[in-house]
Amino acid sequence: MQEFIITGGRPLSGELTLQGSKNSSLPIMAAALLGGGETVLKSCPELTDVYSASRILNCLGCKCSISDGTAVIDPAGAEGSEIPENLMREMRSSIMFMGAILGRTGECTVSIPGGCELGPRPIDMHLAALKKMGADISDKGGRIRCRINGGRAHGARITLPFPSVGATENIILCAVTAGGETIVNNAAREPEICDLCGFLRARGADIKGDGGSSIVINGVEELHGCEYTIMPDRIAGATYLSMTAAAGGEMILKNACVAETEPFLSVLEQTGCTIYAGRDKIYLRSCGRLRAVRERIRTMPHPGFPTDAQAVLMAALVRAEGTSVFEENIFDCRYRHTAALIKMGADIEVMGKVAVVRGVSRLHGAEIEATDLRGGAAMAVAALAAEGTTRLSGIAHIDRGYEKFEEAVSRLGGDIRRV
Ligand code: UD1
Repeated sequence: MQEFIITGGRPLSGELTLQGSKNSSLPIMAAALLGGGETVLKSCPELTDVYSASRILNCLGCKCSISDGTAVIDPAGAEGSEIPENLMREMRSSIMFMGAILGRTGECTVSIPGGCELGPRPIDMHLAALKKMGADISDKGGRIRCRINGGRAHGARITLPFPSVGATENIILCAVTAGGETIVNNAAREPEICDLCGFLRARGADIKGDGGSSIVINGVEELHGCEYTIMPDRIAGATYLSMTAAAGGEMILKNACVAETEPFLSVLEQTGCTIYAGRDKIYLRSCGRLRAVRERIRTMPHPGFPTDAQAVLMAALVRAEGTSVFEENIFDCRYRHTAALIKMGADIEVMGKVAVVRGVSRLHGAEIEATDLRGGAAMAVAALAAEGTTRLSGIAHIDRGYEKFEEAVSRLGGDIRRV
């Protein structure tokens, strides 16, 4: 099991070019399964989750190769409709393939991804929507079989009880080649949804309204190949900005999606950091001692404060002057990183979905273990701002979402080694 050895307490400085978005890559790779023609994806991050998606494509008979940040996907021989349980377990987002497989073959068999490190993540909204589009669904011992009579889904009017990112994506994936019009009300508005729709439009799909809460998809007969560049990863961006804010120093983030990062930047700015944002660059300077954020930091669906940035911002605020209060509204178990931060000297009290962070003047290194992707990244943020050396295990979680994490941190002057 690999670990990161991180020695903190020194300011960071430098320039970083942001990787492509993990949360865009996964549904876009699923979307490449639909229709005909080869897809060339530029800026495809080389992450363990992306390799898991590639293995799923391969097992469905779809060719997929990834090198030097480019994925080439050819669905010509993709006749498979079943994802084995071991591949479903590798990554929760494997559920995203359900809509695409159904759209391609009219049937699919997957397993319930089950509980994960963020608590139970049900798929009831995904299944209810696919049923409305004509799927018969049965569950035998955790294996879910979906079958569409006649082989082609039909359009439907679907109102989601909550703007679920994954459910919105699955509906879009099933609807682009379905017969007729699908309307998704209360759709998720995350930028990665727009990226998925941008990709599908480049392949000939008819989709309108993405980025708003009502998306209209008119099914087309065929999709063709295309070349597409995946959007930058706004959460990786938030992580590196939080890191420099916490340790002090200055950095320039290049290939940044500035508008999409705004809900995070507007909160980070309240900590006293100097931030300038250009078209696709963000400059940040921090004196290393932040101010607490006065308003309660509430995670909300986009354009609210992103749940994926909650842990990394908290890690930056543990050494701030004053008390910051977080409210996690998206996931039930998203404070698991707080135990490690407390071990490093932080003063955090968790009460249900609220976490009260009272700023301390110093953190110290410790032996800690990453419990989930963003929580693990948050521990690295804290370690770089702490005095002494931290041994961070469980870093497979971090490798799921950060491309060459230690290289990026080293480029900013951080003292980090993988052992
Ligand atoms: C996606 C992101 C994840 C991000 C999350 C919220 C990817 C690969 N992952 O996850 O990084 O943290 O959006 O922005 O893009 N829910 C149900 N029933 C369902 C579906 C969801 O109850 O059928 C609940 C979930 O348990 C959760 C909430 O809805 O509490 C939001 O989940 P959702 O938006 O679906 O997140 P994911 O798509 O899983």
